[in-house]
Amino acid sequence: MMSSIENSIIKIDMNNCTKCKECVKDCVANLFYFEQDNLQIVESFEDRCIECGHCEAVCPVNVIRLKYHKDEELEPRSVREEVPTYDKFLNLVLKRRSIRRFKEKPIPKEEIEKLLKISRYSPTGGNSENVYFTVVQDRSTVTAISRHITKRLTSLVNSLEDPKGRDLLKKSRSEQEIKQVVENLPSIKRKLDMIEKGIDFWCWNGELIIIHGDKVEGGISSNSALAAAHIMLAAETLGLGACSLGYLTNFANEYQTIRELIKIPSNHTVGYCLTMGYPDVKYKRIPARKPLKVQWF
Ligand SMILES: Cc1cc2nc3c(=O)[nH]c(=O)nc-3n(C[C@H](O)[C@H](O)[C@H](O)COP(=O)(O)O)c2cc1C
Repeated sequence: MMSSIENSIIKIDMNNCTKCKECVKDCVANLFYFEQDNLQIVESFEDRCIECGHCEAVCPVNVIRLKYHKDEELEPRSVREEVPTYDKFLNLVLKRRSIRRFKEKPIPKEEIEKLLKISRYSPTGGNSENVYFTVVQDRSTVTAISRHITKRLTSLVNSLEDPKGRDLLKKSRSEQEIKQVVENLPSIKRKLDMIEKGIDFWCWNGELIIIHGDKVEGGISSNSALAAAHIMLAAETLGLGACSLGYLTNFANEYQTIRELIKIPSNHTVGYCLTMGYPDVKYKRIPARKPLKVQWF
């Protein structure tokens, strides 16, 4: 009798396999089958396995191991029995607000590590696990990022308002950047006014989590958004508040100086940015939302 099935990704202890076929039924890539009453894996297993770990998670006798999963990390679900009830989860979701006013108190690194641990378990398309995190705790770097955005936009707006400047702009700025600013000129001017009054409109003076990944890989923006959603909700449980930074996401992709400042690899696209910190604001009510737009079949 075959004692084990093994390749570079998986090891199955066949001596203890009970032939329950749960791995066969659960593998999304259809990599397991039975032949003559024995579990087999397809020849192209190593090319097709997405290493999602469903096989090892579903095996009732724990005989399947993905090699890159450390034994001590493969927890029995029973040790995590307690999950929030629907009502408790609803409370968490309803109480979350985008926080834009933070105390000066820094976030301990361990607290951010707890949030990153949560995002590690956020799903990714095809289990690609292809997102990277850049954490900017140093507030002077955050200020430098915001100042750079303000400086570039101010000079862009000034040039746009000067006929000679408009022609010169075309030499120094991308068409895309000019178009975006032209289309949003009144709103950008309002933001620059707020910034003049001392408000950090781009990063809200918080600590940043920037989520990015290889440009050529699929799903970076969806995977980043999901990771960010997990982080934002988890932040509430630690007494932290967070806010999405759509503007910064765009500028971090567009402005080389920002990318260099926080060492975003040149082949990466930024998928999502968050700012966070200890809230310096208390909300007393939960604002209503528009009615859901749903269709059912
Ligand atoms: C994709 C995305 C991008 C956002 N970008 C910004 C941003 O750049 N700056 C900001 O202050 N808020 C930003 N927000 C926060 C929204 O304005 C906020 O979620 C919305 O007004 C609802 O408020 P709430 O999150 O408190 O419920 C963004 C939200 C999302 C989902």
